Amino acid sequence: MIVAETDTGLYAQQSGIHGLGVFTRFAIANGSFVIKCQGILRHKDEVVEGMRALQIGPETYLAEDPANPRLDDFINHSCAPNVGFTDGSPTLSALRDIAPGEELFWDYRTSINEPGWEVPCTCGAPACRGKIQSYCDLPDSERSRLSGIVLEYLR
Ligand SMILES: C[S@@+](CC[C@H](N)C(=O)[O-])C[C@H]1O[C@@H](n2cnc3c(N)ncnc32)[C@H](O)[C@@H]1O
Ligand SMILES: [Zn+2]
Repeated sequence: MIVAETDTGLYAQQSGIHGLGVFTRFAIANGSFVIKCQGILRHKDEVVEGMRALQIGPETYLAEDPANPRLDDFINHSCAPNVGFTDGSPTLSALRDIAPGEELFWDYRTSINEPGWEVPCTCGAPACRGKIQSYCDLPDSERSRLSGIVLEYLR
């Protein structure tokens, strides 16, 4: 069961994009801290299909703790994200003003760096590229566009 982080106003509910997503009850100002990603450190060989896990290093992932699911495990991807890793740490900050009731999205391409990794994207953003690819498989132009919101190990 997912516990809403009531002090921050973040909560999980059904998303129009995929499964559960994370939403904000309150307005969030551009540049504000939103959520710190947490979990269990796992080697890439321990990460299996379907596990919610954030790649934070060449061989290291921050994986969900099944005994203690957290909201950051449920944030969906968008090709037009409203939160990102602005300081390079696994902490998400607002990339623009976010209104109450909006779903939060980060760009999964700013974390995943496994050659050939790819999943279809249904984010629906006008700039949607139809697929979510690994950072290392993106063209240079896209990597430089994302440079301010990728994790430290990709900078
Ligand atoms: C960390 S989970 C996000 C939470 C997910 N909605 C859930 O309920 O478990 C990541 C998975 O959600 C799906 N997902 C997230 N964003 C997506 C998107 N824009 N398009 C398609 N699938 C997406 C993919 O299956 C991805 O592997
Ligand atoms: Zn998309």
